[in-house]
Amino acid sequence: MRRSGESEQGPPFAATDTEWWHQATFYQVYVRSFADFDGDGVGDLEGIHSRLGYLELLGVDALWLTPFFTSPMADHGYDVADPRDVDPVFGDLAGFDRLVADAHKHGIKVTIDLVPNHTSDLHPWFVEALESPPYSAARDRYIFRDGRAGGAQPPNNWVSVFGGPAWTRVADEQWYLHLFAPQQPDLNWADDEVRADLERTLRFWLDRGADGFRIDVAHGMAKPAELPDMDLRAVGVIGDHDFYDPRFDDDGVHDIHRMIRKVMDEYPGAMAVGEVWVTDNHRLANYLRSDELHLGFNFRLVLAEFDAAAVRTAIEESLRTAATADAPPAWTLSNHDVWREVSRYGGGEVGTRRARAMALVELALPGVVFVYNGEELGLPNVDLPDWALQDPMWERSGHTDRGRDNCRVPIPWEGDLPPFGFSPGDETWLPMPAEWAALTVERQLEDADSTLSLYRQAIELRKTHDAFAGDALEWYGAPEGCFAYRRKGGGLICALNMSDIAVPLPPGEVLLASGPLDEGYLPPDTAAWLV
Ligand code: NOJ
Repeated sequence: MRRSGESEQGPPFAATDTEWWHQATFYQVYVRSFADFDGDGVGDLEGIHSRLGYLELLGVDALWLTPFFTSPMADHGYDVADPRDVDPVFGDLAGFDRLVADAHKHGIKVTIDLVPNHTSDLHPWFVEALESPPYSAARDRYIFRDGRAGGAQPPNNWVSVFGGPAWTRVADEQWYLHLFAPQQPDLNWADDEVRADLERTLRFWLDRGADGFRIDVAHGMAKPAELPDMDLRAVGVIGDHDFYDPRFDDDGVHDIHRMIRKVMDEYPGAMAVGEVWVTDNHRLANYLRSDELHLGFNFRLVLAEFDAAAVRTAIEESLRTAATADAPPAWTLSNHDVWREVSRYGGGEVGTRRARAMALVELALPGVVFVYNGEELGLPNVDLPDWALQDPMWERSGHTDRGRDNCRVPIPWEGDLPPFGFSPGDETWLPMPAEWAALTVERQLEDADSTLSLYRQAIELRKTHDAFAGDALEWYGAPEGCFAYRRKGGGLICALNMSDIAVPLPPGEVLLASGPLDEGYLPPDTAAWLV
């Protein structure tokens, strides 16, 4: 590969002590699926506590725990009935305190999910709203409206993200808005009590030692007062589009983020990363202004095909956003809402090879990386039988969309048979495939070539090697279907081959490779780090 014209990218993400997250590797714990301590087949806080040694061995700096708050679990915890308590399925507040204290002893920060766009329909506020008359203060905490066409039609044409209309009619014939499931009524962010309550929740967890938040639907919350119809061509389009969609990214949302940031600034070192499904660079950068979110997920790598040009563009655009915002980019390849990358990139051995290559591409980048639990084991999606499906998307779509359970199957820890040490019981909330015997943590720890070993080495190098210094990248010229970039500060080179033939490696000493190399050549579906 030949070196070409330099293109300087990336802002100076100079980190101070309170900015521990600037180059951090986060690990997303999907709490239901990580480790079950009490044997009910559902992961819990004590399970996470019991696996802190593993997380330290993996080398991650911080955790993001998905919602563990009191919830009827219509959307597995993203329907919160009490944001300041732990659901008994997951443990209790004392268990949370223990987890935070001991994670800190292992050098791991703990960030938690915040769900401010909506509550559960069993939240006392919503129960009160249903018991109260139209136009009452209790209803005004949510978005209730009269219907159109004499009341029989929903107030506008908005569609729920989970399928079907975004409105449900109540007994007195008013309608309420839910951008997700009907059990997740949207809050009215023009209401002062709603704001005051979130502030209380922020302080509640920060006072207990949480190091920050992942903010759910951080591009939601605010809605235009007149609730205009959306362009229905936006439905189901994830990523770039120009269709008018007033459900999300309303300008009023920034005022809410400023309120959140004001509270967080009282807690030095606390950080917030937003789930912002906005691809326009400038609109995304708006969320990262110095008085708003610290970080915003950039989902471009999730959306990019396994194609050199597409991945390079995703990286360049993400760096552009970060530079505009003067904030570190936040990279992710997957999470509990999207297909696991092994399956996305083709499944089987090919998918695994490609996912390993993309892990090195991601972990060589400047900024913050989020690893989704199981990604480090190379877990694929699981084809679950109909009876096992629990995601509300399955029902809401009239059984046309199988939903997200396929990427949420519990983690295989050890042994030869399900539940592979995930639970002391026999049953797990989603069935675990027998063939995962080959993918357990135990097996992979013993194998120097396993995906887990690759992640451990990569995370360690990323954290300790000088070659990872600096925030800017330069791109090399590369054969068709390949790319290589160099960290300008430290000099690390990351080369990726997505073509069908082996290509010469750039000059340098190989630090790590995602698969076997061939005497100076980089085989297809392989990435290498060189210095
Ligand atoms: C995004 C979360 O990641 C997803 O799992 C959830 O269903 C929706 N927000 C609604 O809270």
